[in-house]
Amino acid sequence: MRDHNMDKEHNNIIRREGQDMGKEGIRGVKAEMSDEIFQKISKLVHEKIGLKLTDKKKYMVYSRLSRRLRELGLTNFNKYYQLLKKDTSELEELINLLTTNVTNFFREIHHFAFLKNRVFTELKQEKHNKKIRVWSAGCSSGEEAYSLAIILYDHFGPEWDIKILATDINTEVLNMAREGIYNYQQVKNIPYNLLSRYFLMGTGDNEGLFKVKDDIKKLIVFKKLNLNSGSYQIESKLDFIFCRNVFIYFNHKIRARILEHFYRLLKDNGYLFLGHSESINNSRAKNNRWKLVWQTTYQKTGKGERDGA
Ligand SMILES: C[S@@+](CC[C@H](N)C(=O)[O-])C[C@H]1O[C@@H](n2cnc3c(N)ncnc32)[C@H](O)[C@@H]1O
Repeated sequence: MRDHNMDKEHNNIIRREGQDMGKEGIRGVKAEMSDEIFQKISKLVHEKIGLKLTDKKKYMVYSRLSRRLRELGLTNFNKYYQLLKKDTSELEELINLLTTNVTNFFREIHHFAFLKNRVFTELKQEKHNKKIRVWSAGCSSGEEAYSLAIILYDHFGPEWDIKILATDINTEVLNMAREGIYNYQQVKNIPYNLLSRYFLMGTGDNEGLFKVKDDIKKLIVFKKLNLNSGSYQIESKLDFIFCRNVFIYFNHKIRARILEHFYRLLKDNGYLFLGHSESINNSRAKNNRWKLVWQTTYQKTGKGERDGA
């Protein structure tokens, strides 16, 4: 699995931050970030959420944390590291600053086409109880979960019991997701018929803003969940899981552990959708447990041994 995608997203952000520096600068903070402190912060973040901060990320980390130091009135990174160790709310702040949350409505449209063309037909045939359970894992600011809710609701209608669990580690993006308000730029991928049906369009001071309607909102529960943790406390068997553009941040061991959870939580023959540069390496499993059925789309199959990713 290649990590160039993550690098691209990060590099774009670093470039933007470089431009910002010119204007307001991180000059206000004269503190140097030693390699030792960078390694300590990287280790902390890796242990907590599985995110690997390679040396290439040092400038990005320095840039984002310099601003934080300034806000806190701290004069050096050592003091900041001491604060991180004793203050869990600052650790949450750090995670919010360091995760990459790029997302879009109907991103990787081929997955939505596959849902409509295959998965929805199967669900209609199988689901006599009209119950659909879905998870958007690493949902960022909500665009992925709302895209799913919109096409599910549009296809199955209000008489179906549809629930989408949408989770992320970053509490800031989760708050944005819960609000469900987006600007013109953010909604531009939504087909107009869906936009006009499922969004309220702002007027006056809110001109240019689009708010997700309650019929859609009420299908989703947004929750903080660390994928790099032992238990997820999810009860229902899931029909499908979207976990896209999240695996790229993790090493093989963590990916394999998360896949174990996904396998257990999916119903038989359920589907897992990964991001465009992500894949499951089944080669170490005696009987493959995941069958590739579409672009980065896997179906849960028999009972093999542990998977790699
Ligand atoms: C690039 S975004 C992908 C958003 C969406 N799935 C998509 O493909 O458009 C990756 C998301 O994964 C989240 N993330 C990173 N590490 C995580 C972890 N350990 N547990 C849960 N979410 C995590 C980040 O906060 C971020 O919002």
